[in-house]
Amino acid sequence: MVRETHLTANDFVYPMFVQHGGGVVQEVPSMPGVYRYSPDTLLKAVEEVVELGIPAILLFGIPKHKDEFASEAYADDGIVQNAVRQIKRSFGSDIIVITDVCLCGYTSHGHCGIVSEDGIVLNDATIDVLSKVAVSHAAAGADIVAPSDMMDGRVRAIRNALDENGFEHVAIMSYAAKMASSFYGPFREAAESAPQFGDRKSYQMDYANRREAMREIAIDIEEGADIVMVKPALAYLDVICEARRRFDVPIAAYNVSGEYAMVKAAAMNGWLNERDIVIEILTAIKRAGADLILTYFAKDAVRWLREG
Ligand code: PBG
Repeated sequence: MVRETHLTANDFVYPMFVQHGGGVVQEVPSMPGVYRYSPDTLLKAVEEVVELGIPAILLFGIPKHKDEFASEAYADDGIVQNAVRQIKRSFGSDIIVITDVCLCGYTSHGHCGIVSEDGIVLNDATIDVLSKVAVSHAAAGADIVAPSDMMDGRVRAIRNALDENGFEHVAIMSYAAKMASSFYGPFREAAESAPQFGDRKSYQMDYANRREAMREIAIDIEEGADIVMVKPALAYLDVICEARRRFDVPIAAYNVSGEYAMVKAAAMNGWLNERDIVIEILTAIKRAGADLILTYFAKDAVRWLREG
């Protein structure tokens, strides 16, 4: 009766990975229980998400071909574009489809942007490509686009590009305070998106900086972000909490792959009670102030909440 924070299925966004092919259901080695699907098997998996009452998925694509320019990221028949069209044809408004807008999975060098000959990630050249990616996702039927690249000025550029192309109804969830974190390791295995040289510290944030995180969030809201994200979640509850206090837009928190892998590894060894620990972690993220929680635990969490 006096409990302040209640988790429900409505809080969750379920991240999913899609690759080319047919009949693919391939477990990610460092993320037990998380799979890479082909479009056909993805539809079945989305059906389960809908049945559980989870309102949204976040879609990541693994392309057939990577190049310096991330061409498949904005191709009409790219993997994400195809998957979104099929999901929308089958489920319509029963599921909110959020697409990841970034280049790292599509570039041969694995960086989130276009790289110059001397190895510098070019902010402004990248923004043009990201805008094309966002428009192609919207054209395929995405409800929300989620730029995760952390280039400066991309939210405004994407907003303008969407509006100019007749997609003013498509919302933007920006990865606003995204830290250069070691918690993304398992995801990079799943998405084959690890940088082939250097690191992401020239565009992602220093995890030591909370004030800078507030500035990044303020700028993204000013540029037109509808939802802003703090990422990772568990080691950044203070950032979520302060963002909640300062800003009146919905705050999303991404309970990332490394957070998932740590819990899974300990649970599989019998060192932690998975069910209890997951519900505690997700409740804490919501208590800190998150309105939306992106988590690979979404389906299990809903089942456990139902069991009570
Ligand atoms: C792409 C992207 C990453 C994640 C989401 N989008 C990885 C990265 O920035 O290297 C991480 C998600 C996770 O770890 O669960 N830029």
